Parts: sequence; structure tokens; C-alpha cells
Amino acid sequence: MREKARAALDPVRWDFFAGGAGEERTLRANEQAYERRRIVPRVLRGTGARDLRTTVLGTEMAMPVLIAPTAFHRLAHPDGEAGTATAARRTGTVMVVSMAATQPVEEIAATGAALWFQLYPQPDEAFQRYVVARAEAAGCRALVVTVDSPVLGRRERDLRNGFTDLPAGFACENMRDATGAVLSIAMDPALGWDHIARLRESTRLPVVLKGILHPADAAEAVRHGADGIIVSNHGGRQLDGAVATLDALPGVVAAAGGRVPVLVDGGLRRGTDVLVALALGADAVLLGRPVLWALAAGGAHGVQQMLETLRTDLDHTMALAGAKRPADLTPDLVA
Ligand code: FNR
Repeated sequence: MREKARAALDPVRWDFFAGGAGEERTLRANEQAYERRRIVPRVLRGTGARDLRTTVLGTEMAMPVLIAPTAFHRLAHPDGEAGTATAARRTGTVMVVSMAATQPVEEIAATGAALWFQLYPQPDEAFQRYVVARAEAAGCRALVVTVDSPVLGRRERDLRNGFTDLPAGFACENMRDATGAVLSIAMDPALGWDHIARLRESTRLPVVLKGILHPADAAEAVRHGADGIIVSNHGGRQLDGAVATLDALPGVVAAAGGRVPVLVDGGLRRGTDVLVALALGADAVLLGRPVLWALAAGGAHGVQQMLETLRTDLDHTMALAGAKRPADLTPDLVA
């Protein structure tokens, strides 16, 4: 899918989707962390057919894999976010809609997919409440608040390419205010935990914090009422040099202490990667670039094919490792 996407995409768009911050050390580290792990399988456990179904924060899913929030799907393929959502519905996968989506959340929801909604914490809290209300009304079942972006990462490919904004004819459709004007997504290094606490008060939806790497922040997140945590370094697009997410996962899982679900993203490419992340304590994982590659390569159908392939791969890997359910995956299965 990645090679098909590379062939299909304009090079500037390819760089936007593929690239990371700085020297892309963290981008590479995320994938390498999975390459360093090996599975220690169990045998003769009589698992029979596997059951990959999972429920996270009340949302049921066919497998413990969600679609990570990523910007600008219409730059990958005309099917856009609605195409990705259609694939999610067909495969029983949850899609996290990005605040930087190029289609309105209502149109994406009209596909019938199970959606969560991602937002960057906005200093204009009245506007933030407006966006949250819109996501709630569209039927989104959780809010994913991205906390790793006090400022935008330095993405050198984009700087070299002069890619600073969406081309004409595209807009961040969920950044429209009540008058229909499109606001830009604000990143504000002044925001702190009090902002999250007020956001928590303003909605009945579960609030998941995305972009936690330090165990002490996992504890803070729980203390401030977060309902879930996503261990993420934004796919290596924010702080270059940040720890690989798989390496950060066990510390966050320990700090969360089972009080809230812990998810992880970054560098997962195969069923074996999913198995390793679940074994090291994740309740579910999210995929970013694999979805974009599949979308660029084949629109909604491409994303469906990718998710089905991953599901088959995970099922097969679990059979070979002697696990029937995700809950059977424990840290002793990973070397
Ligand atoms: C992202 N990511 C992201 N995250 C977020 O919270 N809001 C967003 O709008 C975006 N946009 C975005 C665009 C592109 C092109 C990429 C590649 C990533 C980060 C994303 O949710 C996720 O953390 C990573 O993509 C996971 O890493 P992998 O799977 O891409 O390795």
C-alpha cells in the first residue's frame, strides 16, 4: 500500500503524509521498537477460533485496532474522510475523526461508522465548546484531545516544499464557526491541566488524552478526570528525539494502574506489531500512516482491504502464539 501510495501521490503531499519532525529519528524509532521485539509463543492451549472483538470506553469494535486521527484525507484521495469512514463501517473499526478533516463531521457520520472525534485544545473555549457540541450532535462517542502539540513540530520536508497550508478548494470543515468562517487550528503553549479539567466538565463524552509518554503525566491525566490515555508521539511529527511509543508504553500502563484504558499508536504495520503492543499492556492500538497509504492507493476500498488484511494477520499471529482473545496477551509473550 505504501509503495502504491508513493506512486499515486504528488511528491509534496507524499512528504506531508510520510514525513516527521527534525531528522525523523522518532519516526524511525517507532517502527524499530517493534523490530526489536520477538514473540515467545505458547503451545497446545486449545484456543480454537480466535475472538478479536473488544470494547473500549463503551465502543464495540471488531478488533482492538482504531483509525488514528490524521489530517487532510481529501489530499490523499477524493473519497476523503467519508471514504475512510466507509471502510471503518464495513470492517467494524472505529475511526477517530481529525479536527483537521477536510469533510464535515456530519458527512463522515452519515456513512454509519462508529466515530470518535479528535481536537486540539483551543484557547478560545467558547469555540471549543461549539466544536465539541457539533461532534456530539453528529454522534461521536468519545473525544480525543491531543496534548502533544503546544506548538507545531518542525517538519523539514514541508518547510523545504513550502507546504504550509491546504491548497485552494480544501478547508478544515470542522473549524467553521457559527457564521461559517473557517478558523485556523490554534496551538497554545500556555494551556495547562486546568484547561483539560474544564473541557472534562463541558461534555458527557469520555475524554481521552492523546500524546502522553511520561508516566507522571499518565498519573496527572487520571487525576484530572481523563477517561483514557493514548501513548503517542504523533507519529514522530512533533518532538523529534521523543521516546518510541512502544518503549514508553509499559511505564504509562503501570502509572495508569488499570484505572483507565491505555491505547498506543506509532509504527504499527503488521499483526505481529499489534500483538506485541497488546501484550505489553495496550487495550487497543491506532494506525495512522497505513490508513493514509491505503486511502491514497485505493480510496475507501483500499482502506477496507488494508484493515481486512491486518485483521487476518492479527488473527493468524494470535493462533500461532496460542492466544484466543486479546486479553490472553501478556508481557511474558514478548522478548
Ligand atoms: C497525524 N496525526 C495527527 N494526530 C492528531 O491528533 N491530529 C491530527 O490532525 C493528526 N494529523 C496527522 C496527519 C498525518 C499525515 C500523520 C501521519 C499523522 C498523528 C496520528 O494521529 C498518529 O499519532 C500517528 O500517525 C501514528 O503513527 P503512525 O501509525 O503513522 O506510525
